[in-house]
Amino acid sequence: MTNRPDLPAEIARRRTFAIISHPDAGKTTLTEKFLLYGGAIQMAGQVRAKGEARRTRSDFMQMEKDRGISVSASAMSFDFENYRFNLVDTPGHSDFSEDTYRTLTAVDAAVMVIDGAKGVESQTQKLFEVCRLRDLPILTFCNKMDRESRDTFEIIDEIQENLAIDVTPASWPIGVGRDFIGTYDILRDRLELMDRADRNKVAESVEINGLDDPKLAEHVPADLLGKFLEEIEMAKELLPPLDPEALLNGSMTPIWFGSAINSFGVKELMDGIGTYGPEPQIQSAEPRKIAPEEKSVAGFVFKVQANMDPKHRDRVAFLRLASGHFKRGMKLTHVRTKKPMAVSNPVLFLASDRELAEEAWAGDIIGIPNHGQLRIGDTLTEGETVRVTGIPSFAPELLQTCRAGDPLKAKHLEKALMQFAEEGAAKVFKPTFGSGFIVGVVGALQFEVLASRIEMEYGLPVRFEASQFTSARWVHGGKDAVDKFAAANKQHIAEDNDGDVVYLTRLQWDIDRVERDYPDVTLSSTKEMM
Ligand code: G4P
Repeated sequence: MTNRPDLPAEIARRRTFAIISHPDAGKTTLTEKFLLYGGAIQMAGQVRAKGEARRTRSDFMQMEKDRGISVSASAMSFDFENYRFNLVDTPGHSDFSEDTYRTLTAVDAAVMVIDGAKGVESQTQKLFEVCRLRDLPILTFCNKMDRESRDTFEIIDEIQENLAIDVTPASWPIGVGRDFIGTYDILRDRLELMDRADRNKVAESVEINGLDDPKLAEHVPADLLGKFLEEIEMAKELLPPLDPEALLNGSMTPIWFGSAINSFGVKELMDGIGTYGPEPQIQSAEPRKIAPEEKSVAGFVFKVQANMDPKHRDRVAFLRLASGHFKRGMKLTHVRTKKPMAVSNPVLFLASDRELAEEAWAGDIIGIPNHGQLRIGDTLTEGETVRVTGIPSFAPELLQTCRAGDPLKAKHLEKALMQFAEEGAAKVFKPTFGSGFIVGVVGALQFEVLASRIEMEYGLPVRFEASQFTSARWVHGGKDAVDKFAAANKQHIAEDNDGDVVYLTRLQWDIDRVERDYPDVTLSSTKEMM
């Protein structure tokens, strides 16, 4: 599907997307099947196995392994039919949601996976709302249809009601639970039959010629056929047909029914992503938008991963290319500092391994090893001063004071904390009053992750202690107004790692008071990264 007919073929074939889901719905299993059909792995089971190998690299990773949580997100590229898929992995655990939100700024579409027995769960709803903020096109996969699942209309209704989006069935399940035999592919008028005996076997397709084709009765047992025909009649009457435009503007989602573990319905979904999913889209930026077909290269950093190898203090910045055709060795301008940067060893993340990226196109994601120059939200261009916008930073929901075990090591601690702040792993606030640092995170587990990383990577034992503050807000307003406000509220004021003024709060009451007493400053819970 195209809403951008002028794109060069190499860009037009790219589909950059993420999978959003509630833990346990089947994201890992589906990812693995994508990679399998994309030829990136040979055998099911490798994704987890590879995850384990990667995790043993450090104890911090050991910790996530013990807890079975995937902390690090990465991007994977593979080909499927004529398409190049870039799948950006989002960490699924709710503790790491800020990272997930930012990941969603780097994709053009999302695949929403729901469990057929559970429907729309809390984390799915939250992530969906982030996609909605950007009108991101969403394709839905209803998984685990091999097990007892909810009534099909009920699932569709729930999505429509809870997420306020039109749903159109791309396929329709035949039979439920043990009796589930496959689906009718509405878009291509054919039957897909699941092989329960062989999980890795791709479904058998049977072309049919309309729903009154006698072939239907040859493949669908009589006791299921009647109900199926009744349902599909009703579905056609009650549910809208696929409208590609509505899909692209985010107001309609097609839903496929399948079972990732049985390799069922996955190829149809991939076909759907290719056929109806969006090509690389225009990127919002200041002072002008960036179109993917522009000749010169522009891209933005949406994630930084530090210390992938603890022996080297290097970091990998994940850059989403917004435009152009990138070639290895190119000299780009780092817009924030206006400094040139030769990108000589960019990496492309093929599922099987990292590889040097000789070239990349708008829509692709490359990793750029660097020593800390690249931060989340940074834009790289071929010289023009244009800055990609819309990469949010959220106010942390939990604050703790961080102290070095050895008080003489406070400077080291500051360095370590600043690095994690740049990486986006935590917010670090330096209070104007008193000593120590206040560290803010979105999920409690991150304090433990940070403590273990600081010890591992910097050899610094640290303590996190309760802080009197519970939340933080960025202070905006004219310089005089902000200065006056800061002077009058010293006990509450801190600077974040960019030097911006932050107001630390204990209660909602604090915020209400500021709003009442200082009409010329505003407090905000997000700040745009720049
Ligand atoms: P997640 O990444 O979204 O958290 O989900 P994941 O793929 O890890 O799947 C969660 C569980 O659901 C796994 O079982 C997985 O095997 C199972 N699963 C995935 N797809 C299907 C499906 O189509 N049908 C059925 N019946 N189960 C499915 P587990 O017992 O937690 O792990 P494992 O021991 O199977 O690895």
